[in-house]
Formats: sequence, C-alpha cells, structure tokens
Amino acid sequence: MKIETASEFRNYGSGISLPKEEIVGDNSVVNQLESLVTRFVLGVNNNRFVLLHGHARSGKTELARYLGAHASAVARTEGISLSVVSFDVRSVYQDGNLMKFLDQVDELRNNKEKKYLIIQEEFDASLNQSDPRLASEVCRFVDDDNINNYLLLGVANQIENIAPRLRDRCQIFYREGAKSADQKADLLRYHLHPELNPDRVEISDEEFGKLGQLAYDLNLTGGDLTSICRFAEMGTINQDAVVMILKAGNSGRLKGLPKIQSHKITYDILEKIMVNHAKGPEHTFYELQTP
Ligand SMILES: Nc1ncnc2c1ncn2[C@@H]1O[C@H](COP(=O)(O)OP(=O)(O)OP(=O)(O)O)[C@@H](O)[C@H]1O
Ligand SMILES: [Mg+2]
Repeated sequence: MKIETASEFRNYGSGISLPKEEIVGDNSVVNQLESLVTRFVLGVNNNRFVLLHGHARSGKTELARYLGAHASAVARTEGISLSVVSFDVRSVYQDGNLMKFLDQVDELRNNKEKKYLIIQEEFDASLNQSDPRLASEVCRFVDDDNINNYLLLGVANQIENIAPRLRDRCQIFYREGAKSADQKADLLRYHLHPELNPDRVEISDEEFGKLGQLAYDLNLTGGDLTSICRFAEMGTINQDAVVMILKAGNSGRLKGLPKIQSHKITYDILEKIMVNHAKGPEHTFYELQTP
C-alpha cells in the first residue's frame, strides 16, 4: 500500500482572488496566461516555465492568485488532481535550500498522476538566489523532459534580476497593471463599488474620472490606490485607529481593523487621501479626520 505523505511544497494561498474583470490592465496578457494555465491543467502540452514581471505594486500577485484560483476551478470541473503550490527552499542549514528543492523535484517525479501549478512569487529572491548551485539545479530541472507534470509560473519585479540562463529557458510575460487614468479610475471604482454601497459611497462616474486623472498625475500605483480605498472605507479615523494603522505599517495588514463609518466616502475625501498619500505615509492619517 502506498502511504500518502505530506507534500514538501508550500501551499499557495486559498484560491481566493478578485474576479477577472476587476483585474485592471492589459487584458490580453491575462487571457494568454489564463489559456496557458487551462491548457496545462487539461494536459495539452505547452511551455512548462513562464515568468510574469512588472512594476512593484502593479497587481502581479493579484493576477497570480487569479490564475491559481482559475486552475483549481478547471481541475475541479474536470476531476483532475491538481496542487497549487510554491517551492519552499528556505532553510537555515548549509545546503538545506538545495536539499529541499531536490526533495520537491522528487515529489514531482514520484507523483506523475498528479499536476502541480507552481507559482513562485519573488522568483528572483527564491529560486534565482545567490547560490549558484541552486540556480544550476533549477536549470537542470526545467530542462528535464522526464518531468512534465508541472507548470512553473515565476513572478518578479525586475527581469534584470533573473539570471540570464534561467531567463533564456522561460516564456516571458510583462504586465503593466493600471496604467492610464481610466484604468486607475476603474481600480478605484472596483475597490469601492459605489453601486453595491450606495449608502456609503457617493462618487459619480465623472468624479471617478477626475480621481483617475489625479492618480495618474500623482503616479500612484494600483497598490497605492487599493490602500487609499481601504483608508477611505475606514471612514472617520480616530486617534486609536491611527496608532493601529501606523503600527501595522503595511496596508495588507489593515483588513482586520474595525470600520468606523460616520460619513460617506465622497470625492473630496478620496482626493484628500490621494494627495496626502502621495506626500508620504505620515500625511495620510491625521488630515483625514473629519468632525
Ligand atoms: N492592476 C490591478 N488590478 C487589480 N488590483 C490591483 C491592481 N494593481 C494592484 N492591485 C491591488 O493592489 C494590491 C497590491 O497588488 P499586488 O500585491 O498584486 O501587486 P504586486 O505587483 O504583486 O506587488 P509587489 O511588487 O509588492 O509584489 C492588491 O490588493 C491588489 O488587489
Ligand atoms: Mg507581489
């Protein structure tokens, strides 16, 4: 009897992501990656190694999460066994990273009936890291035609940080995210959903257009705009909330904060937060307080 052992890989998230239509930016890249992932799950041969790169905070992780969720959904519908994972090569031991990587490659080799979508965030800092032996093993792995039950999707900010010998082996996708004023306006709209929250959000289409232009002029990223919407959703921020936010430091960890909603989110409020956000984090909070 074969004993099931726990996977050596790290599980990649919960499969929750924004719906596809709310992932703002170049649709053709999303569609290409989506069809690549679908073909992989359905077993149609394609490239086993792809790289997604783009600017910081432009929505790469959001897109990768969507692709993971999409792959899981296709696998479920088709009754295909699929794991969405990442290589886990962090180790405090000498050569530990190499050993862990090789163990995970073995797992792929020994589970041919199963498929693995391997999403590697910060690809440049993990599989491409300074250890040249690890990078060599990664090359050997992607060159090995005997292992083809995986699709490796690397995600990185700067393609220049990827070793050329790895870059040469993958199909590269560049994605810009929310670039134009209109796209930035869309992003704001999707994060506030005025149509779903008429009692809380009072911003017209025309005003969203102006805010999108402002975001463009201030050079705010998709990540900035998402944080800004979260600040606005918290409504009138009191002193305690300010302290909590400053301690949390990073917008991704703000989700658990209690919402204090004593007014509607209006054009003026969002404009104010955007301008202050562009000046730096210390300006974002205090000036938001309204009577
Ligand atoms: N183009 C976009 N479409 C939808 N949401 C976006 C977009 N860009 C950014 N976001 C939102 O902004 C936040 C940060 O985005 P995300 O983490 O995906 O960016 P990233 O490119 O992976 O950033 P990093 O360079 O830090 O890895 C997320 O909450 C995400 O939903
Ligand atoms: Mg990311």
